[in-house]
Amino acid sequence: MDIENVRSRFIKHFDGTTGHVYASPGRINLIGEHTDYNGGFVFPGAIDKGMVAEIKPNGTDKVHAYSIDLKDYVEFGLNEEDAPRASWARYIFGVCREMIKRGVDVKGFNTAFAGDVPLGAGMSSSAALESTYAFALNEIFGEGKIDKFELAKVGQSTEHNYCGVKCGIMDQFASVFGKAGSLIRLDCRSLEYQYFPFNPIGYRLVLVDSVVKHELASSAYNKRRESCETAVAKIQKRHPHVEFLRDCNMSMLEEVKTEISAEDYMRAEYVIEEIQRVLDVCDALEIGDYETVGKKMYETHHGMSKLYEVSCEELDFLNDVAKECGVTGSRVMGGGFGGCTINLVKDELYDSFISNAKDSFTAKFGRSPKVYDVVISDGARKLV
Ligand code: GLA
Repeated sequence: MDIENVRSRFIKHFDGTTGHVYASPGRINLIGEHTDYNGGFVFPGAIDKGMVAEIKPNGTDKVHAYSIDLKDYVEFGLNEEDAPRASWARYIFGVCREMIKRGVDVKGFNTAFAGDVPLGAGMSSSAALESTYAFALNEIFGEGKIDKFELAKVGQSTEHNYCGVKCGIMDQFASVFGKAGSLIRLDCRSLEYQYFPFNPIGYRLVLVDSVVKHELASSAYNKRRESCETAVAKIQKRHPHVEFLRDCNMSMLEEVKTEISAEDYMRAEYVIEEIQRVLDVCDALEIGDYETVGKKMYETHHGMSKLYEVSCEELDFLNDVAKECGVTGSRVMGGGFGGCTINLVKDELYDSFISNAKDSFTAKFGRSPKVYDVVISDGARKLV
């Protein structure tokens, strides 16, 4: 994350003075996909790639925002009807609105920002952007009165209310709560969390980016969520205590099989199994059993591909290559519909896996995948 670049652009673009600089990371997720909005467990960690923003109040009631990467400049007011058209600016606008709704007296400011989380790669570039501004506005205009969980919820509500994605809490949580060297197991129902130092001796975590971005990812994502809610509504009629798929087991789902579509059944089946897999992986990690961790990752990929149907040809291909190369664990990461696989690879297999994945992917799809080594890093913070 390049602070100097952001600072020099801020100085150049505005009145020559400086403000304060804030940063928030993207995230990986070892296991637990599409479980967050089902009240289940997730197991993310923040990464060393994220967003950096310089911010300074400007004494007006308007935000002047410059996206360094897109070379795009937007001005907007802070009332509900002032929503900007540019999608990148809607994230900042949404965060301002959500902070205002929580009693923070947000005023106009100048800001310039840039990022190095690849967009649309399933590493939560948007959560990084939201957390950066939520954290910063809380310090600048809110005297730090909003707690960290609420800052994560500001980002999530921004997605829901201003960007059309009914996401869970995982990405924003990881971006705010990240800690260098640790993954975080979060119970998305109780919001209890636990840091797990993650330093698998003899293994590496690496992301292989298919560079596929699906246009309709947000509507497909919302549709998955609806399937889960449909299944829950039916199960609830027989088991009134059930609030989320987290509260269900396969025999409860079986009872309503004829009352829901085959598609909704498959979606719910995947989620119920995936929630259990997170717990299994945590148990395995406690005893250093990386073979089991890896096996569960492959199971997740299979479920995301065949039951939840959020994989794609390129990601299935990368998963197959990993398997053929003897990689310990591999699966599509994040919401799906494109983006990366996350791979747990033995040190001695790393080079051959990467060159194999690059060569065979390029031979099949005519372009090279990107490769990112995972460095588990700290969450939202003030830099300068
Ligand atoms: C996206 C969402 C998260 C989560 C994942 C899938 O990243 O923003 O809330 O649902 O997909 O696990």
